[in-house]
Amino acid sequence: MTNQEPANQEPANHDPANHDPSSHELATPHLPAPLRDFVAGFDVLLESGADEAAIVAEGGALLRDLLRTDGWLSADAARPDPQYYRQYLLYLDPEARFSIVSFVWGPGQSTPIHDHTVWGLVGLLRGAEVSQAWRRLDDGSLVPDGPPVRLETGSVTAVSPSLGDIHQVFNAYEDRVSIGIHVYGADIGAVDRSVYTREGGRKPFRSGYANAA
Ligand SMILES: [Fe+2]
Repeated sequence: MTNQEPANQEPANHDPANHDPSSHELATPHLPAPLRDFVAGFDVLLESGADEAAIVAEGGALLRDLLRTDGWLSADAARPDPQYYRQYLLYLDPEARFSIVSFVWGPGQSTPIHDHTVWGLVGLLRGAEVSQAWRRLDDGSLVPDGPPVRLETGSVTAVSPSLGDIHQVFNAYEDRVSIGIHVYGADIGAVDRSVYTREGGRKPFRSGYANAA
């Protein structure tokens, strides 16, 4: 997936020869061109019947392409909150097969330990973040699953119930904003998920969105 369309072109990934445009409509005219192209490419990937491994590999390559340019993310979707990290909805597939969010970290902010329950691609547009994966023992308590992993601008990683789904994430910086672009295999703001304590506590969690895109 090295052949992305230039950002200033109309989305050209919908080849009528192998994609039936009447099957569903993409609600993308309002999107900035790089994001619109990404959505078009992701739609083609999902229409092809890609399994999770292909979504992680090929969808991850599409996301890395999207992260190569900055400047397309609106100021509204890049705004940190003084107290908490923010998740802004950038795009929701009309069939809720995937959603795209910007994840905005204020300096020093972190998430609780949480899961996703669906596949997720996590890419960094600005700054850096650190993720600590956790593994759940039979008694419910959590133990670290490997060392903390630092994700730099331009790089992409994945989470899912099969790859490892429980983690806690931090802005790598105490003095600046970091921004991730995440793609999830559902309307992630509406998914029933959990937050955890290391000692075995587990509470229902539904993230919602900080905006109503
Ligand atoms: Fe996460």
